[in-house]
Amino acid sequence: MKEFTFKDQVAVVTGAGGTLCSVIAKELSERGSKLALLGRSVDKLQPVADEIIAAGGTALVIPTDITDVAAVEKACAEITEELGVCRFLINGAGGNQAVATTSTTVFEKDELFEDKPEEMRGFFDLDMDAVESVIKTNTVGTMLPSQVFGREMARLGRGSILNFASMTSYRPLTRVPAYAAAKAGVINFTQWLSVYLAPAGIRVNAVAPGFFVNDRSRKILMTPDGGLSARGECVMAHTPQREFGEAKDLLGCVCWLLNDDQAKFVTGITVPVDGGFLASTGV
Ligand SMILES: NC(=O)c1ccc[n+]([C@@H]2O[C@H](COP(=O)([O-])OP(=O)(O)OC[C@H]3O[C@@H](n4cnc5c(N)ncnc54)[C@H](OP(=O)(O)O)[C@@H]3O)[C@@H](O)[C@H]2O)c1
Repeated sequence: MKEFTFKDQVAVVTGAGGTLCSVIAKELSERGSKLALLGRSVDKLQPVADEIIAAGGTALVIPTDITDVAAVEKACAEITEELGVCRFLINGAGGNQAVATTSTTVFEKDELFEDKPEEMRGFFDLDMDAVESVIKTNTVGTMLPSQVFGREMARLGRGSILNFASMTSYRPLTRVPAYAAAKAGVINFTQWLSVYLAPAGIRVNAVAPGFFVNDRSRKILMTPDGGLSARGECVMAHTPQREFGEAKDLLGCVCWLLNDDQAKFVTGITVPVDGGFLASTGV
């Protein structure tokens, strides 16, 4: 057991079947927490739960769409009943969608014409339903669990919420306007909620991962033979440490931010874990 703070405490992790939060969930279990794993697909969550349980931990799989009020409220009631009141909420569910991205980095006149190249998707072609869905998943999907689980934490008088921002929260990356707006909203909301919930004894912070390869970003950053794509080269050229992150690289920061002893006076901040990407101008 690594630390007393986490022992027997309930940690709710959304996006727990994903690349980053599956590793975070396992780490919190190693530190003694009881885990509630949320995401839409049981197929992604169950292997994480199986690993936690095989290692002697506690994990409850609750298939939940974190943009659905009734589903999140139902999950919260089940968790409170089965494990106890949530002490740590990790809002990890999120991501982008290809249809909400442009294929071009800047305006090209061709996008105005009917006979433009088939694969061309400029800003004027973007599907607003897809844009809305990305904003809903990343921003509302952070606010809603914070509201539902935060209410229980406020009744208890303590708790810690951790949100997931991005490099594109600070300065927008090309091609991802919906995801950028959504993740900018996450930093702003983290600050807002930290102020609002301070009197309730709840701290709210965020981590902003740099570039970590997951199932979606692998197709964007890498070539099929495992090399770097043009975008991958560009990211690498602006990452002073010259590597992509691995999920375990987040653990020190995440566990520190959640820890009420070590980070007792820390709330409303977003910490970049990015190999220097944010500091670099690339020039
Ligand atoms: N990887 C990176 O480089 C990077 C960089 C910056 C920020 N981030 C952020 O860090 C977080 C974790 O990223 P990751 O790389 O681990 O992504 P990932 O592997 O795609 O995992 C994200 C998880 O979120 C779940 N999810 C998506 N929409 C959901 C919804 N409506 N309801 C419930 N669950 C939902 C997905 O599971 P289901 O499809 O089964 O629901 C998926 O397992 C995300 O917020 C991401 O935006 C990642």
